[in-house]
Formats: sequence, structure tokens, C-alpha cells
Amino acid sequence: MVELTYYPDEVLLRKAHPVADIDAEIKQLSQEMVATLYQAQGLGLAAPQVSRGVRLFVVNLPNDNPRVFINPEVVETSVDEIMLEEGCLSIPGTFANVLRPAAVRVQARDTNGKPFTLSAEGMLARVIQHELDHLNGVLFWDHLPERRRERLQKKYTAPQSVRS
Ligand code: NI
Repeated sequence: MVELTYYPDEVLLRKAHPVADIDAEIKQLSQEMVATLYQAQGLGLAAPQVSRGVRLFVVNLPNDNPRVFINPEVVETSVDEIMLEEGCLSIPGTFANVLRPAAVRVQARDTNGKPFTLSAEGMLARVIQHELDHLNGVLFWDHLPERRRERLQKKYTAPQSVRS
């Protein structure tokens, strides 16, 4: 298990670095992130959300196996956009409808360093886009009109940190 970090922790607002080497440490981080995501009952978790500034995220949708994406790149997005409600483990208690492309094609590496390409739509496409944003220091409310974002930010209170 790894410790979640919360907005406004600045690791969440920075661009993450590419993973240089998919070594034992990265494999372990991936496993721990999957466990943490499962425990938190979330759909996706990006490394900056556990204070690691590297380009890696995990996705765990119902009725699917956990998926790990290392150094992911979106290579194609649909013209079609859909509105879906999003939340974020780093901004607990905050939800908003966000408009994004309905489908994406993403390239990444798995924990064996093997490249793969995935075409995703629906909830998987949504979670991939949300998590990829985290690797660029972007949070879901950054997609909202400024006034709506400010209203959510004003209402938000960070959970008490359990870190000493
Ligand atoms: Ni998030």
C-alpha cells in the first residue's frame, strides 16, 4: 500500500517524468498502486497521487483486470465528445460533469516493458484521459469554466494528512 496525497499537494500540479527503466522498483510501485486503488475503491490512480513524479498510472474497472500504463501517450482521440461525471481520489468529495473525447487510442508499456496499443471507449477511455492528465499536473476541474472550478475549489477541504 502507498499513501494517497491530496490537493493542493504540489506533486499533483507538476508534470511527471518519463519512467527511464522499468525495474523492480517500478514493478513494485505498480503493484502497490493497484492495491491502493482497490482499497480506495477508485477506478484509476496515477503515480503523482502517491507522491511519485513518474509517468505511470493504473486502472481498475469493474469486471476487468487491473491495467498498468507506463509512459503512456494518447495517439488518437475521437471527434465525438461526451459529458461524464468525474471525481478524483486526490480531491475527495468533489464531483463534476466533464466533457472529453468519447474514445481514445493510447500507447504505453506494461510492467514487462512491452509496448502495447489500446483503443478505449466508454468508462475506460474516460479514466485513461483523467489519469493521463495527472501525469501533466492537470486535474479534472481544470477542464471546467473558471467560475465553476473556483466554486468547487472554495468548497473543497483537504482531508487531514495522516503523514507525520
Ligand atoms: Ni484523479
